[in-house]
Amino acid sequence: MPTHLIVLAAGEGTRMASETPKVLHEIGGAPMIAHALGTVASEDGGKSAVVVGSGAETVSDAIRSIDPEVAIFEQVERLGTAHAVLAAKEFLASVSGDVAIVNGDNPLVTPETINRMIEARKNGADLAVVGFHVHRPNRYGHMLHDGDRLVKIVEWKDANDEERAVTLCNAGIYLADAETLLKLICKVSNDNAAGEYYLTDIVEIAANDGLIGASVTCDESEALGINSRAELAAAEAAFQQKTRAKALGEGVTMVAPETVFFSHDTHIGRDALIEPNVVFGPGVTVETNARIRAFSHLEGCHVGAGAVVGPYARLRPGTELSNNVKIGNFVEIKNAEIRDGAKVNHLSYVGDAEIGAETNVGAGTITCNYDGVFKHRTKIGERVFIGSNTMLVAPVSVGDDAMTATGTTVTRDVPAGDLAIARAKQENKAGFAKKLFERLRATKARLKG
Ligand code: UD1
Ligand code: MG
Repeated sequence: MPTHLIVLAAGEGTRMASETPKVLHEIGGAPMIAHALGTVASEDGGKSAVVVGSGAETVSDAIRSIDPEVAIFEQVERLGTAHAVLAAKEFLASVSGDVAIVNGDNPLVTPETINRMIEARKNGADLAVVGFHVHRPNRYGHMLHDGDRLVKIVEWKDANDEERAVTLCNAGIYLADAETLLKLICKVSNDNAAGEYYLTDIVEIAANDGLIGASVTCDESEALGINSRAELAAAEAAFQQKTRAKALGEGVTMVAPETVFFSHDTHIGRDALIEPNVVFGPGVTVETNARIRAFSHLEGCHVGAGAVVGPYARLRPGTELSNNVKIGNFVEIKNAEIRDGAKVNHLSYVGDAEIGAETNVGAGTITCNYDGVFKHRTKIGERVFIGSNTMLVAPVSVGDDAMTATGTTVTRDVPAGDLAIARAKQENKAGFAKKLFERLRATKARLKG
């Protein structure tokens, strides 16, 4: 039986102090809501729903762009987490089997933890809830047991000293049969310190109905609830640490892993080497044996095997580097294919372009791709030599085995095998520099005196 998913994302997120809805704040370059939707694998036919409220339209648009199959429900009044689940009553009634309810602000929960809840259900629990240990005062719900059984979750605001001393805290992830959940939720009242319908109350209601509650635990770094910018930063740090450890485990060399930043979808091949202070934005794949040198920034690009990028390189979306390409310092590449063994080693901008295999692009070369309104393409063939400080005014092409002379502004296509040269002829004025220096120095002396 597949596991279905409901994500609660209607809250105001007041403590974020933001114009952006809380669940659209990003971790590893993806909004929290995308992480939350990924906690339960949907491959096995599980359905997903999200309850939206605050910033409903913006959040709904974001959800549709992540996965158009997700059912969206609006909680018009925000009366608490149980009330939020009720907004998706129709969804609960329409699915059969187990449903996981996940707080939208707990985005780092792993599928492994969800699997532990599924195990607990198989072992006889009617309701499973994820907890984690916190050894300091906190605002989480505290999980109370009677022997092995989870019997109650008490919110910090409502807890007495003894209950607050319990270190096992509620991560906000629940699993039970859809029908059971629906029954339990309908019984929740708002008789508590906040006057809210607490989802956490289903634990005590279930225990009173003779149902079996169980807690499974995970690490705090996974269960972090994000309610403020400080917690967002802590969650990002936890995400980065976990991702770095995973990359190292998969055979990526990092000299200073703590200075390398990954996105949720970064893929780095075995035996690639990442030097310090590298940032991977979303959509990057780096193949085996490539080397990303210090202070480089990559997003939306593919780096082929054995390629060397940086130091201080910027690869922007649409960059496709084939094997053994070399991109050097202060080079920006955007929406361009650079084929096998080609080199762009110094201070260049290559955008909306194609560069053939074994071509060498000299220092200071620019593809002038933008005329102020439209973007145009530059096509450079194989084994070409582009002289330093060449301006390629697109649309333009340079054929195989051609050359451009240093300082050339290329405005017309260059046929294969030709040399393009377009620069003013040099003239040397004999002794002129000496005379000019003397005149300038005399002027300076007069002004000082
Ligand atoms: C909640 C839990 C607490 C747990 C903590 C874990 C309750 C009552 N408390 O507290 O036990 O330790 O999460 O992080 O559930 N939401 C709605 N509609 C509402 C209210 C909230 O959709 O009316 C959504 C929020 O957008 C958020 C989630 O539910 O994604 C949790 O709400 P939040 O206000 O953050 O609850 P916490 O105080 O963190
Ligand atoms: Mg919260």
